[in-house]
Amino acid sequence: MEELPKQTWNSNLYDKKHSYVFKYGEDLLNLLEPKPGEKILDLGCGTGHLTNLIAASGADVTGIDMSSQMIDDARKNYHNLKFLVEDATNFNFDEKFHSVFSNAVLHWIKKKEKVLKCVYNTLTPGGKFVAELGGKNNIHRVESAIRTELIKRGYIRNAELNLWHYPSVGEYASLLEQTGFTVKFISYFNRDTFLNDGDSITDWIEMFGKAFFNGIETFEKSNIIASIQESLKRTNFINNRWFVDYIRLRFVAAKE
Ligand code: BEZ
Repeated sequence: MEELPKQTWNSNLYDKKHSYVFKYGEDLLNLLEPKPGEKILDLGCGTGHLTNLIAASGADVTGIDMSSQMIDDARKNYHNLKFLVEDATNFNFDEKFHSVFSNAVLHWIKKKEKVLKCVYNTLTPGGKFVAELGGKNNIHRVESAIRTELIKRGYIRNAELNLWHYPSVGEYASLLEQTGFTVKFISYFNRDTFLNDGDSITDWIEMFGKAFFNGIETFEKSNIIASIQESLKRTNFINNRWFVDYIRLRFVAAKE
């Protein structure tokens, strides 16, 4: 499958319509167990909401994200916190961190080995990496519906784009171990995720899947997405609400 141009982010739309991303991330903080004074790195912090929750524990937290728009908004949202534009596959801080936290980001990063190496190198011995990402077959129905409709209309190259990487438990545990981590906990579970009331699968596709439609004229793109939405009505619409068939992979990995 073909590589993609970089995803760009509309941080306003992200906060307004997709707040469930960081709402679900709150649960992941129970695995992080941040403590006062601990140095914690929030990798792919977006607009900073989870970074702020980590900071509320008294930890000394730094948020990093590849998107300067996300970081601008994070700084506006939380003036007192540290946020930096950094590439997750190529960062190196003088200070070391007790923990690295990451929610719903790793499946966007193609260079998996590189990001894990950076995380490993930035941790103190005894430090831990706590993360959640999309697991094997995550959003399978939505992704298949997008590809099927694009193929039907002759947009074969668009349909072949490979936007995300969703590893299995075995695959990711091996990667973590090859990097040097000890996997303390790993979990794979379904989490059908309902969109905000009144929002549709079109909103989700326009936010997260827009690269699939690169080069397609606006009117045609709207028609395609409308057809995708229609085809997903049977499987991803219940009691008047849209949901996405998320499957999560969660882990705690230690640098011993
Ligand atoms: C996820 O969190 O699983 C996800 C979010 C946006 C696009 C694809 C997957």
